[in-house]
Amino acid sequence: MSATKGTILITGANGGLGSAIAKQASSEPKFNGYHSLFAVRDATRAPALRSVLSNATHPYDLISLDLTDLDNVRQVAEAINARVAAGEIPSIQALILNAGFQDFGKQIWTEDGFDVTFSANYLGHWLLTLLLLKSINKDSGRIVVVGSQSHDPYDKRNDGTGAFADEKDKTFVNDQASFEAIAKGTWSSAQEDPSWRGGFRRYGASKLFLIMMIHELQRRMNLDPVLSNVCILGVDPGTMTTGLQRHASWMIRVLLFQIIYPIIAFFMPNGPVRTTDKSASRVLHAAFESSPELGESPKGLYFLDQVLFETSAESRDAHKRDIVWKETVKYTHLDQSETILSNWQ
Ligand SMILES: NC(=O)c1ccc[n+]([C@@H]2O[C@H](COP(=O)([O-])OP(=O)(O)OC[C@H]3O[C@@H](n4cnc5c(N)ncnc54)[C@H](OP(=O)(O)O)[C@@H]3O)[C@@H](O)[C@H]2O)c1
Repeated sequence: MSATKGTILITGANGGLGSAIAKQASSEPKFNGYHSLFAVRDATRAPALRSVLSNATHPYDLISLDLTDLDNVRQVAEAINARVAAGEIPSIQALILNAGFQDFGKQIWTEDGFDVTFSANYLGHWLLTLLLLKSINKDSGRIVVVGSQSHDPYDKRNDGTGAFADEKDKTFVNDQASFEAIAKGTWSSAQEDPSWRGGFRRYGASKLFLIMMIHELQRRMNLDPVLSNVCILGVDPGTMTTGLQRHASWMIRVLLFQIIYPIIAFFMPNGPVRTTDKSASRVLHAAFESSPELGESPKGLYFLDQVLFETSAESRDAHKRDIVWKETVKYTHLDQSETILSNWQ
């Protein structure tokens, strides 16, 4: 089972959407010839992933990765870069940034003082990506960000949540101080708003920064002598019943996500609630296909249901993106020797 076409790396591969992506990537004939790396928090366990891999026909490895531990992110990236450099696995064709965490108001912090939602969803993924650019296929590699409606307070789908009803909650970031307040979890903290809405806003902020990364990293890669053919794009997977709701109240976790939403998904297969299989197909489509909506090179695009979707005004604000990028470089202590992106600072 030697793979030559490329490597597929998926974070959060033990999750609801992640294991659905892993199932398709490891068994569908169109992914024949690819080698998958499934990153999970604990590779000795990962029960959801292991159950879908019982039907795998393509080669794969499980990797332990904790995105909230930046030392661990560095070790994992270094090990992957070494394997690609040694020709043990092919270059990365698709890097799928899927892992996600939402605390539903039960706020927690990393050992280095970051809000876990910010760190797991954004900071760890940003660092992983910058480090792995060394190993990406420079002709046609794609990086796919799994986004969310929560990144845009003006998205009508958020109206029912009431999370962004207050005018002050319609903007996430203005300057270094407001970015730091989100990073450290003092903005919209559980102390300030103990309901799940406070956690949803911090989740939305982390997704905004990921989506800013789509635009900002693509801009920087476009100007790069080596990385100008690499694409970064995003997919909003829609609402799905997964492990994401595990920290939610019974009303949200069981009544809404396990009873009401599956009924909606059954009677409205093309409605607002999706199965993980369907969203997984969308993510893999974005990572591999060329189609009328994607074109040959889907640089900086963002999709909902294979339809181009405009990301929030804030995500497209070049000044704010610059602040977020530069502060992220500081938080991750990225060093020139660690990334091949020429304009990394
Ligand atoms: N479900 C929805 O309605 C929905 C809507 C919009 C967007 N999304 C996005 O879809 C993506 C997949 O989420 P999901 O719905 O499939 O939820 P999920 O079942 O909870 O899967 C998320 C995965 O991320 C992993 N993860 C969390 N924190 C991590 C960390 N610090 N380091 C490494 N991995 C970590 C989890 O690992 P463990 O298995 O070890 O916990 C889990 O496997 C996320 O980006 C999410 O934001 C979901």
